[in-house]
Amino acid sequence: YVIGIDLGTSAVKILLVNEYGSVVQEVSRPYSLIQKRTGYSEQNPLEWFNKTIEGLTDLIKNFKGDSSQIEGISFSGQMHGLVLLDENNEVLRNAILWNDTRTTKECQEIYKTVGKERLLDITKNIALEGFTLPKILWVRKNEPDIFSKAKKFLLPKDYLRYKLTGKLHMDYSDAAGTLLFDVKKKKWSKEICDLLKLDYDFCPPIIESHKEVGKISSDLAEITGLSNSTRIFAGGADNACGAIGSGVIESGRTMVSIGTSGVVLSYEENADKDFEGKVHYFNHGVEDAFYTMGVTLSAGYSLSWFKNVFAEDQSFEKLLKEIKSVPIGSNGLLFTPYLMGERTPHVDANIRGSFIGINSTHQKKDFVRAIIEGITFSLNESIDIFRKNGKTIDTIISIGGGSKNDDWMQIQADIFNAKIIKLSSQQGPGIGAAMLAAYGCGWFDTLKDCSDSFLQVDKEFIPKYKNVNRYKKLFHIYQSIYKQTKELNN
Ligand code: XUL
Repeated sequence: YVIGIDLGTSAVKILLVNEYGSVVQEVSRPYSLIQKRTGYSEQNPLEWFNKTIEGLTDLIKNFKGDSSQIEGISFSGQMHGLVLLDENNEVLRNAILWNDTRTTKECQEIYKTVGKERLLDITKNIALEGFTLPKILWVRKNEPDIFSKAKKFLLPKDYLRYKLTGKLHMDYSDAAGTLLFDVKKKKWSKEICDLLKLDYDFCPPIIESHKEVGKISSDLAEITGLSNSTRIFAGGADNACGAIGSGVIESGRTMVSIGTSGVVLSYEENADKDFEGKVHYFNHGVEDAFYTMGVTLSAGYSLSWFKNVFAEDQSFEKLLKEIKSVPIGSNGLLFTPYLMGERTPHVDANIRGSFIGINSTHQKKDFVRAIIEGITFSLNESIDIFRKNGKTIDTIISIGGGSKNDDWMQIQADIFNAKIIKLSSQQGPGIGAAMLAAYGCGWFDTLKDCSDSFLQVDKEFIPKYKNVNRYKKLFHIYQSIYKQTKELNN
């Protein structure tokens, strides 16, 4: 067996996976966001660690076999979140997360000091509020006492791995999302560190996602019931792991993943293409490979926000069950999911969401369908960018919470105008992490062999011509909402 730990934004999900790639046991421990102001989003790294240990202990307690049969553990983690450590590797403040957009000024500072063109040259990306470097600059400026004690920074799952092994590392796929990393040369950028007067030693050592960093510490082996011979592998960014867990490890493959955020991700063989920063360009968890990606900041988060505010007593399943009885276009209701700003395509931290076209006959289910359609329209803007840059996207593997509901899968097929594939396991990032451990343990010669053995197609959703045309018209109206509402909060 191997374990994949997916350190997400809403919960840590732990999967126990057997040699055939089946999830035989699964536990999840939720946690929430700390939001002191609009646009702020934090979590306490110790809470991630405590919840993970609780979950692992629970998993092992219910495991029927001997824990020494669990050979390896690897990780998938929410990207970009800043964890600051002092000289004793103690956490200095709450982590500032990927969906925190307080750093617009710091992004401008980066452009002023490094230059937009040079930044794009080195990192293959533009300065976005969600990335790690602007968060580092924010703490330096706004919390100088804390920053003066900071000796290293990590990303969320790297902190978890450090707590399990005592070793400090970051993997390529997550380092790529910091804006301090030379994506093509695969090393920290001394030039950017120097220009911004950051100590190069602040950056942790880099390691490939499938490489072993060590064994679990004996203390934690004892607490959780794991064997102290359990090998720990580096793991990767959740989107890289989602891609691995959905077989997006060769050219021509595209994935849509709908979790708290939503992404459209496409495999890239090299770092030579030029999307002018319109989509993110990162190192993959597959050695020497890359991927491009567009991001909707509040995808599943829009739905959980609605549930928390207007339908607390109902489950997501129940809310989604009713969208079937609402026609395409949600009876004239349109939603834009910009609850915490938007990345692709608008790059606008200040824009906020909207419901447009409300009438007095609308019911809760119309709002839910409008949210689902709005999230999917937003992802379609990323697909549009890919297509306009010459990519053929006719088949998409859809994973995450958004793939659990078949009606939503059909909506994806109709809005994206592409065949949507549902895999038997839709927990992409967790499976991807488990695959990195399986490959690292030597179960397979290549990740591709692992993917061929672990992943199976469950269902396919084919676009319906009539629906595609109706959605095309609605998509145009959806696209015009951004321009009309931009001034409200900017
Ligand atoms: C990607 C991003 C999000 C997080 C979600 O750039 O910010 O998708 O990785 O965990």
